[in-house]
Amino acid sequence: MRLTRGFKRRQFQGEVFLIVGGTSGYGREAAIHLAQGGADVVIAARNAPSPKGLGSLPRAFSRQGRIEFRPCDLTDESSVESTVRAVVADLGRLSGCVITAASPYRAERPTGLMDIPTSEWNTLIATNVTGSLLVAREALRAMLSTPQGGQVVLFTSRAGWASTLGHGPYNVSKAALNALCASLANEAQYLSPAGLVRVNAIEPGEARTGMNAGSGVHPRVLMPLLMWLLGQRTGGPNGQVYSRDGLALSLAYDHLVSGNP
Ligand SMILES: NC(=O)c1ccc[n+]([C@@H]2O[C@H](COP(=O)([O-])OP(=O)(O)OC[C@H]3O[C@@H](n4cnc5c(N)ncnc54)[C@H](OP(=O)(O)O)[C@@H]3O)[C@@H](O)[C@H]2O)c1
Repeated sequence: MRLTRGFKRRQFQGEVFLIVGGTSGYGREAAIHLAQGGADVVIAARNAPSPKGLGSLPRAFSRQGRIEFRPCDLTDESSVESTVRAVVADLGRLSGCVITAASPYRAERPTGLMDIPTSEWNTLIATNVTGSLLVAREALRAMLSTPQGGQVVLFTSRAGWASTLGHGPYNVSKAALNALCASLANEAQYLSPAGLVRVNAIEPGEARTGMNAGSGVHPRVLMPLLMWLLGQRTGGPNGQVYSRDGLALSLAYDHLVSGNP
């Protein structure tokens, strides 16, 4: 894979992307890059971006792609359905759906799984796992109904392969997301053997965002990989989890079960 430093001008002209979690952090950066590449981008989250933040971007990029905000809570199935349907109805199609929305869970003690109140566990899983499923499958349904198809990109974490004390609930949620990516990708392949629709994930590494204010890394460092992935068309990668440097990770038994090399 060749990761260029940035995007190609007009690389995404005529394409439409939905970024759930696009008002902050990695999602915000992705929206800017896609719009600079000519795409129309809908950013969705529970809260509208501040006027100082993304609120000024649609004007700033008016000669390139548009960025517009739609309120959406990915834990609410009807909110997800109406958001995806509105994007397709208003903008004509859905080329790609990036799901960056997630909740961090910081336990106060090392025994996060022993201590977490059940209601907080349910909210975490509803946000980091079920919410991604709801968005991804609604997006895939929309993509399957167009000749161009499209792709879903999930955002996972190194935590999905870790068992760090104090981070147990978050670790479990991201491990489940890795499995969701692999299994949903198999279903996408089953539904479209030609690879019209695809599901992949990115393990982005740390960056200074809403959920990691202490990092010294700017989220733009991920954009070469993300723009490369979003630039892939029918028959492109499916079921891959990429780390920031482009390395493809895989679940331990994937090759045995799928028969893939
Ligand atoms: N930053 C890092 O160091 C790092 C490291 C490894 C992995 N990651 C992963 O990268 C992804 C992006 O994280 P980030 O750091 O960019 O986070 P961020 O800056 O905190 O942004 C999170 C976004 O998700 C939205 N969101 C949260 N709950 C939502 C809900 N229920 N419905 C809809 N939108 C919701 C937030 O907006 P509202 O609150 O307004 O809804 C916000 O737009 C996450 O999956 C994270 O786990 C990040």
